Amino acid sequence: MQSVSEIKSLRSQIKAWRSQGLSIAFVPTMGNLHHGHFSLVEKAKTLADKVVVSIFVNPMQFGASEDLDSYPRTLTEDKQGLAELGTDLVFTPSVETIYPNGLAAQSYVDVPEVSLGYCGGSRPGHFKGVATVVTKLFNMVQPDIACFGEKDYQQLQVIKTMVRDLSMPIEIVGVPTKREASGLAMSSRNGYLSAQEKDTAKVLFQTLNATISSLQAGNTDFQQLEEDAKKMLLEHGLKPDYFNVANAETLKPAGPNDKHMVVLAAAFLGKVRLIDNMQVSL
Ligand code: PAJ
Repeated sequence: MQSVSEIKSLRSQIKAWRSQGLSIAFVPTMGNLHHGHFSLVEKAKTLADKVVVSIFVNPMQFGASEDLDSYPRTLTEDKQGLAELGTDLVFTPSVETIYPNGLAAQSYVDVPEVSLGYCGGSRPGHFKGVATVVTKLFNMVQPDIACFGEKDYQQLQVIKTMVRDLSMPIEIVGVPTKREASGLAMSSRNGYLSAQEKDTAKVLFQTLNATISSLQAGNTDFQQLEEDAKKMLLEHGLKPDYFNVANAETLKPAGPNDKHMVVLAAAFLGKVRLIDNMQVSL
């Protein structure tokens, strides 16, 4: 596996592959890789000749009071895992490489409508930071395909919308959420949880399942479903941030005619903010 941190070296390798007519799939990450990330790499391998993974903890998508400084950084282990999976190239740029003029860049990418509410509501500016860095990484890697996890469902919709709106010639592939045996969605932030907290955290998955069952049974009183779910979370020691049933594409609140819906949830366990979601087609 090649490991590069300069844009110039990245571009020259991409150019060489292109001249051989090879296709490229890309998986952007912030590192501290787990089986959720690895499932994206495995999917990417089935879709193109070469797989590029980036590891970059993007300061632009963290709020002032968020965990940028303490975000887990495990580069050696990450590279080892990626090499074992047969990744062709890992790109590990520095903050200066990505933001040579600092964070107050003059140009940015914003996808306002689909960034509204949910994580975008709780984390102002977050998706602007995500859309901007992903655009920059897309311009550097110039992939044919890019894989994103359904775990971050709103992020996936932001990227799909951005690519469509800005005519980026990249196919965006969503990959199902990888879970622990308990149902807890795998996440780098799970490392902040004690064994006991992990046991509590699985209630988020169980609550989503209960809501999905009600929807499948024909219940369309979305407001009541959301209230019941929040109550269930609170009873088990989780503090709901949001819990909403939405149209799976637009993310607007679900209506009685929606057939493909997504239940989006975020909840605090102590200081740790967990997110998860589940789709349902009626
Ligand atoms: P990060 O949180 O490292 O996630 C990288 C990718 O892995 C995302 O597409 C995310 O949805 C996916 N992922 C994380 N946990 C997953 C799980 N349990 N199952 C399946 N996929 C999972 O998301 C980001 O980084 C950043 O916002 C980024 C897109 C890299 C831009 O900075």
